[in-house]
Amino acid sequence: METLQGIKRTHKCTELSESNIGQTVTVMGWTQVYRQMGALTFIDLRDISGMVQLSFSEDINKEAFEKAQTVRNEYVLAAVGTVVKRSSINPNMKTGTIEIQVTELRILNASETPPFAVEENSKVREEIRLKYRYIDLRRPDLRKNLITRHKAAQLARNYFSDNDFLEIETPMLTKSTPEGARDYLVPSRVHPGSFYALPQSPQLYKQILMLSGADRYFQIVKCFRDEDLRADRQPEFTQIDLEMSFVDTDDVISVNEKFIQKLFKEIADVDVRLPLRRIPYKEAMERYGSDKPDTRFGLELNDISDIAAECDFKVFRGAVESGGSVRGINIKGGAKFSRKEIDSLGEFVKTYRAKGLAWLSIGESENKSSFAKFMKPEETEKIISSMKGEKGDLLVFVADKNRVVFDSLGALRIEAAKRLDLIKDNTYEMLWVTEFPLLEYSEEEGRYTAMHHPFTAPMEEDIEYLETDPGRVRAKAYDIIINGYEAGGGSIRIYDSGLQEKMFNVLGFTKEDAWERFGFLLEGFRYGTPPHGGMAYGFDRLIMILTGCDNIRDVIAFPKVQNASELMTDAPSAVDEKQLEELSIGIADMSKD
Ligand code: AMO
Ligand code: AMP
Repeated sequence: METLQGIKRTHKCTELSESNIGQTVTVMGWTQVYRQMGALTFIDLRDISGMVQLSFSEDINKEAFEKAQTVRNEYVLAAVGTVVKRSSINPNMKTGTIEIQVTELRILNASETPPFAVEENSKVREEIRLKYRYIDLRRPDLRKNLITRHKAAQLARNYFSDNDFLEIETPMLTKSTPEGARDYLVPSRVHPGSFYALPQSPQLYKQILMLSGADRYFQIVKCFRDEDLRADRQPEFTQIDLEMSFVDTDDVISVNEKFIQKLFKEIADVDVRLPLRRIPYKEAMERYGSDKPDTRFGLELNDISDIAAECDFKVFRGAVESGGSVRGINIKGGAKFSRKEIDSLGEFVKTYRAKGLAWLSIGESENKSSFAKFMKPEETEKIISSMKGEKGDLLVFVADKNRVVFDSLGALRIEAAKRLDLIKDNTYEMLWVTEFPLLEYSEEEGRYTAMHHPFTAPMEEDIEYLETDPGRVRAKAYDIIINGYEAGGGSIRIYDSGLQEKMFNVLGFTKEDAWERFGFLLEGFRYGTPPHGGMAYGFDRLIMILTGCDNIRDVIAFPKVQNASELMTDAPSAVDEKQLEELSIGIADMSKD
């Protein structure tokens, strides 16, 4: 292998243009492709910036020409040569009008034949790409995503710093506190049997920082949650986390929507009009069946419970009688769906626990329906008119408990929009969802749990119901939704230790429990806590949205897969007996049960 002795890179590949014609330059990078064509050899050389063509001929330099014959894909090269105009222009390449006639070639390193080609929009299976992530990351699309991510991080740092936020680090080895997702635990060697938890977020620390007078804090920080993964979820992910003192909801929203405006303008050249729309949680659920509505298209939900309650179709009437509802979506133009497609929508909603999908399609001359036969014609007419049904429309309905109705129709409207191609590329719809319920009843646990986290403040006008009717208390919480993704969320916090204790009480913690787990916070609250609030963005999600990816792994250099393992390093893995001993840990053999 050859060295860099005596040569220095003068340009990145795509820094070269026709203005460099005649100059002697030195470029370095990887071999994208090589073409041997008799007396000429061409190599496309790739570096972080992109590609440039190298040309070799015996007439220009015999030694370089001969060496070029031995080059294979992904070989690492340094080439010295003259920039010349290219005879056959390649309009698909930024440097397509020029090439470098190479006078000196050095092979800095060889490469084995890579397991897959380095190319945009690779069709290679993701598991293979993740195993060889170092090669995968050479692909232009991933490289672009990493660059966007870097720019966004720089912009966030500058923005929050310019707005008087201090970047302060908080610990990674922390105390395990319940609520939220499952913790990742780290055993302590020094304290056998005791564990740190990796932070699910810096929530408690940032509140303590407000109490300690930091005024405004931010951090770009790793968070860890042992939860089921999805296309927009990772077990370790990054937040832009922030907290502010002496503020109420409007102050936090104002600083943050200006951040979003700047981010989208500078990174994606998208103009965001402020103020962003705000819609209360209840309205989001009723119109979109979701607390993170995708508002790039219509297909809103309609409540037909009133009509359903009085109709002859038992499924509809029964749902309303037992406290649920019947809601529908008018899928405009959906009458063209085949019977098979409608059935597949029915199967789709079943994955959201709906028992079925009742449908009615309005044809040119006649209607078809799965349920009209169970009700009087005038009842069907009433439903059609309340759904504003017209020729060519497909009306679909779910009758069930509200939660199932919202979940299934909320997902169905997105599915239908995809099938009808209603979602335009490069459009961004943003809004705040506000007035979340403070608490939600968990059937599983038989108690109320915090919808956001236990430190979220109730709205002043609802505090009186905290103990008598907890379900109706709304929170000072807000989520920012972009194209149907929860890009971030936060709240104004409780800053009064009495109210905080009351909250723990409603959540079913005994006083001792609450003190055992959160004593440091409750104690701290007694020493002069300012009113405060904040939020956190899912940084990976923001980058997904900015780059138009629909897979969070494409914006993370070394992501984890569905089963939380990392395919390149094979983490997690077994450890030495000795390491376990030092940690006083024994592994139970569960296979014996
Ligand atoms: P929350 O739990 O809503 O709030 O998290 C904030 C944002 O982080 C993103 N996010 C995730 N991204 C990728 N993978 C995950 N597993 C994941 N989980 C969450 C989401 C979410 O909106 N401490 C509070 C914030 C606050 O109240 O200030 C918190 O962590 O985009
Ligand atoms: P059935 O009486 O089972 O033939 O159902 C008649 C139609 O109602 C079928 O299209 C079912 O998919 C639909 N259906 C059944 N249960 C529900 C439900 N809970 N909500 C909406 N539609 C339903």
